[in-house]
Amino acid sequence: VLGWTDDVAQRHVDIALAHPIKLIANALGSPPVDVIERAHEHGVKVAALAGKAVHAQRHVNNGVDIIIAQGYEAGGHTGEIATMVLVPEVVDAVAPVPVLAAGGIGSGRQIAAGLALGAQGVWLGSLWLTTAESDSSPAVLKSYLDATSADTVRSRCYTGKPARMVRNAWTDAWDPANGPGALGMPLQNILTSEANARIARSGRADLAFAPVGQIVGRMNEVRSVRDVMFQLVEEYIETVERLDAGVQA
Ligand SMILES: Cc1cc2nc3c(=O)[nH]c(=O)nc-3n(C[C@H](O)[C@H](O)[C@H](O)COP(=O)(O)O)c2cc1C
Repeated sequence: VLGWTDDVAQRHVDIALAHPIKLIANALGSPPVDVIERAHEHGVKVAALAGKAVHAQRHVNNGVDIIIAQGYEAGGHTGEIATMVLVPEVVDAVAPVPVLAAGGIGSGRQIAAGLALGAQGVWLGSLWLTTAESDSSPAVLKSYLDATSADTVRSRCYTGKPARMVRNAWTDAWDPANGPGALGMPLQNILTSEANARIARSGRADLAFAPVGQIVGRMNEVRSVRDVMFQLVEEYIETVERLDAGVQA
């Protein structure tokens, strides 16, 4: 809860800028203009997530360097427009500002698709959650490995804003169809943070907060980041060669 106050967030920025970083990325709106200016003074570029073209334009007006066009499929806080539709809209809205495609990318074929939509690169979140290097708890890891692409839901139960996660008894309980629904941000987190800490300690996978995108359906085994990266690159090259062969023929 405290992480969402300006005072604490500013101290996070201080710590980040004390390290040799290249990028600060921000979700749920543009970073404050003073944060963008401080990052630029340190030679650090600033990226921001956008779920609509209008968000992307606002980021550019505020001085953001890189737009991450993140579709509905994504894990965590996400909007209502699918990556396939969103990326070209954002690319056209902010050109020549560089855009990264995000949401539902978990293979080399999907990287090629993101680039084909006009993005300069791609941005992955969910796929790292089942790597050997991830700090997912055993209960949450199991829920990722077992889930199909149909098993996620956009729920307000954790922060009060819609975020995609594995559907379970806790997300169902906060569904407005089953009761009063969640409070807005930040009240929902204040209301439930102690319960969430107890649930995390209990190891109950049927209640645990397990944020992840629809690509979870393809995350069926634990692999190292190294193996995942090699497979992404190899499949991307195969895909581009296959498409190129189609053009040549
Ligand atoms: C567990 C989790 C936590 C995330 N937290 C943040 C965050 O704090 N800030 C942010 O900018 N994006 C956050 N994201 C979104 C990612 O940066 C990324 O845009 C998204 O995961 C891409 O879609 P994908 O999940 O389909 O790969 C989070 C995503 C996940 C899965």
